[in-house]
Amino acid sequence: MRRLLPEYETDVDVTAAYEDVRRRRSDGRPWIVVNMISSLDGAVAIGQRSGGLGGTGDRQVFSALRALADVILVGAGTVRAERYGPPQRKGQRIGVVTRGANLDWSSPLFASGAAFVVTTVDAPDVPVDAVRAGRGGVDLGAAVAQLDASVLLCEGGPSLNGDLLTAGLIDEWCLTLSPKLVGGGAGRATVGAAECPTEFRLTHLLADDDAYLYIRALRADHFDS
Ligand SMILES: NC(=O)c1ccc[n+]([C@@H]2O[C@H](COP(=O)([O-])OP(=O)(O)OC[C@H]3O[C@@H](n4cnc5c(N)ncnc54)[C@H](OP(=O)(O)O)[C@@H]3O)[C@@H](O)[C@H]2O)c1
Repeated sequence: MRRLLPEYETDVDVTAAYEDVRRRRSDGRPWIVVNMISSLDGAVAIGQRSGGLGGTGDRQVFSALRALADVILVGAGTVRAERYGPPQRKGQRIGVVTRGANLDWSSPLFASGAAFVVTTVDAPDVPVDAVRAGRGGVDLGAAVAQLDASVLLCEGGPSLNGDLLTAGLIDEWCLTLSPKLVGGGAGRATVGAAECPTEFRLTHLLADDDAYLYIRALRADHFDS
């Protein structure tokens, strides 16, 4: 892995490259990192799954970010599409954001005991732990404030990312650019009801020998405070 920005460097240690940010917020809520992969033409899935976009370097980045996170957050659409499994690190938990709570409770993810749901106060009862905030849709700010975490890693999908962006909750954005054009109908890494232009600043750009690019950006106001 090479660092192209801010300074050129060869043989970059991927874990160290993602550790060099002080992920602390003055308001005490968890720092939220989003990690996504996209094709060069903006597709986040091939055949409804992101796996076809990935590669060796991307898996390294995925693991480096997971190692930093106390809690992983993921939307129910992604859990259903990607058949999410339990985290490998003992004690790490996965919060599945859902309105309808229509999930496979017998799946390895929930059977492991490592997963809980993040849902609304009016959602149906669930057979696992639940963090509840909001009616109709999850109030993500209030839900996140209830989590015992200092770093929260969101692994998508696009609808959850869009809601986090709209709520002003994304502190750090990590995006792998996969050297592919995909076409088709797969969407962008954030979708949401409202446009919400938010300034971010690049903190690094890595590249590997398979022509993947790895972008990491922090919300611009973290540089002003
Ligand atoms: N390229 C990548 O890095 C990447 C990463 C993740 C996913 N993906 C792809 O993205 C696709 C899935 O997209 P998606 O947008 O459907 O995924 P998603 O954001 O994971 O899931 C959407 C679902 O999450 C729940 N949800 C999201 N925000 C909510 C809120 N504020 N309140 C309550 N519930 C909320 C709802 O669940 P309920 O329907 O249960 O109510 C909603 O239907 C898949 O093809 C997957 O492969 C790609």
